[in-house]
Amino acid sequence: MISTILVGIDGSPFAEQALRMALEWAKGWSAAVHAIFVMRPEDLPGLPSSSAVYEGRDTSLAFVSRILESEGAEVEQRVQEIAGRYAWPVAMHKEVGDPAREIIACAKKVRADLIVVGSRGTGTFERFFLGSVSSYVVEHSPVSAVVVKEKGKSG
Ligand SMILES: Nc1ncnc2c1ncn2[C@@H]1O[C@H](COP(=O)(O)OP(=O)(O)OP(=O)(O)O)[C@@H](O)[C@H]1O
Ligand SMILES: [Mg+2]
Repeated sequence: MISTILVGIDGSPFAEQALRMALEWAKGWSAAVHAIFVMRPEDLPGLPSSSAVYEGRDTSLAFVSRILESEGAEVEQRVQEIAGRYAWPVAMHKEVGDPAREIIACAKKVRADLIVVGSRGTGTFERFFLGSVSSYVVEHSPVSAVVVKEKGKSG
């Protein structure tokens, strides 16, 4: 039985499709839905390098969390918009780190019994069927993981 679903969200239409699929399943199963958005330290705007994130711990952590808050706000708003359309709650998580590893860690934390991701994300490499995050999640997830594919596309 599936009672908790975790969805990886990166702001791409692929991830939004994965979220819609997860919400349909969650309603049918009465499952709780969590969504996680992970920012890579090197993607944080206004930082000269990712190492700055780790220097001077306290202040930089506060700084990073402020940036994450504003960057994540847009993604969270989209998530809540979609959740609203399905009239089903979604608990939002925002983290800084390696997306694939943070998704797995979050799945353990919320005791998810299903992870749902899109087949592609915001990346631009199209030589693979799956993006690096979805590949890693499928390979390392301790629970069942579903890769939602865009209708009518092989990649
Ligand atoms: N930063 C992230 N936070 C949360 N979930 C993510 C993140 N990045 C990707 N995902 C999840 O993984 C799915 C596939 O994205 P992935 O990053 O693997 O593909 P890509 O961006 O096309 O390729 P790559 O990043 O390897 O260039 C997304 O649809 C989303 O569900
Ligand atoms: Mg990506």
